[in-house]
Amino acid sequence: MSTRAMHTRTVDPRDFGRVAVLMGGTSSERAVSLDSGRNCLEALLRRGVDAYAVDGVDALVAEITAGRCQRVFNILHGGHGENGVVQGLLEAFGVPYTGSGVLGSALTLDKIRTKQVWMSLGLPTPRYLRLSPANAAAGEVTAAARELGLPVIVKPACEGSSVGVSRVFQESDLPQAVALAARYPGELLMEQLIEGDEYTVGVLGDEALPSIRIVPAGEYYDYHAKYVADDTQYICPGLQGPEEEAMRALALEAFRAAGCSGWGRVDLMRDRSGRHFLLEVNTTPGMTSHSLVPKAAQARGIDFDELVWRILDTSRARDGAQGSA
Ligand SMILES: Nc1ncnc2c1ncn2[C@@H]1O[C@H](COP(=O)(O)OP(=O)(O)O)[C@@H](O)[C@H]1O
Ligand SMILES: [Mg+2]
Repeated sequence: MSTRAMHTRTVDPRDFGRVAVLMGGTSSERAVSLDSGRNCLEALLRRGVDAYAVDGVDALVAEITAGRCQRVFNILHGGHGENGVVQGLLEAFGVPYTGSGVLGSALTLDKIRTKQVWMSLGLPTPRYLRLSPANAAAGEVTAAARELGLPVIVKPACEGSSVGVSRVFQESDLPQAVALAARYPGELLMEQLIEGDEYTVGVLGDEALPSIRIVPAGEYYDYHAKYVADDTQYICPGLQGPEEEAMRALALEAFRAAGCSGWGRVDLMRDRSGRHFLLEVNTTPGMTSHSLVPKAAQARGIDFDELVWRILDTSRARDGAQGSA
């Protein structure tokens, strides 16, 4: 963020102090987070950082109040790790941490409000209508779908991993799609379905990494394609020349517009006429052997250990922040 001091690259691992790698937690993405966390911890240890694992927010508070950690590498996926709560806690204690701050984390958890910010800036994102679970039940869903024009996609505003997401090609399938999304807390969103290709762009520090084109063997990048199937193809870089540059520039602009910093990942679609559309931002993306940010970094010549070091280094911009104590 612009208010933070410029930081030149750290070379001595001792300058990081004792680093808690915050992983696990209680969200539905606990298992993935433990996998990501172990990988990051091992990478930091290989680089000589005094790092150790901390599972969940309660354990983290105990570590901080006992004065046992000076810095947090946050790799909690979903839940409080990704919605601004952990970030606020760490701000209050004055402990530097990796990734986006309170605002960017909280905003991007909510797909509707993130889109509102992008639209206000003229950044391209699929047209959408908000459905509160109440008016969804009242049958205004068909009118919404007619306004947007089929096909549409229905999703919960505040979930991840494609849970509760349905593609709808005919009106008779709307009730089922809405009922599925309404199983999750919060608002629902009906969005214009972009028919074309799916991309994701990792952000590391001030740079957008090469794009990745995701080619699922099935119809789209659903939960199964993300975590179960091993026949999804990842093409990196996903585009060439000026179009690749344009997608990376859009992703970086969208990331910053949403108040995000440090590192993260922006999901996009490209329609058949080559227009780019922003879908969402992930503020603590996966760091498993199947994850996308490590693939993009690799294509940029940044190996896994170097990537993890650079992510940790983004926390140095917060050094010297004052806690309330
Ligand atoms: N407007 C859209 N048009 C086409 N496909 C979409 C659209 N929105 C979501 N999808 C598909 O659904 C998947 C999940 O949606 P996304 O908005 O990224 O939420 P999350 O990953 O948090 O569940 C995407 O990876 C993409 O395959
Ligand atoms: Mg996504």
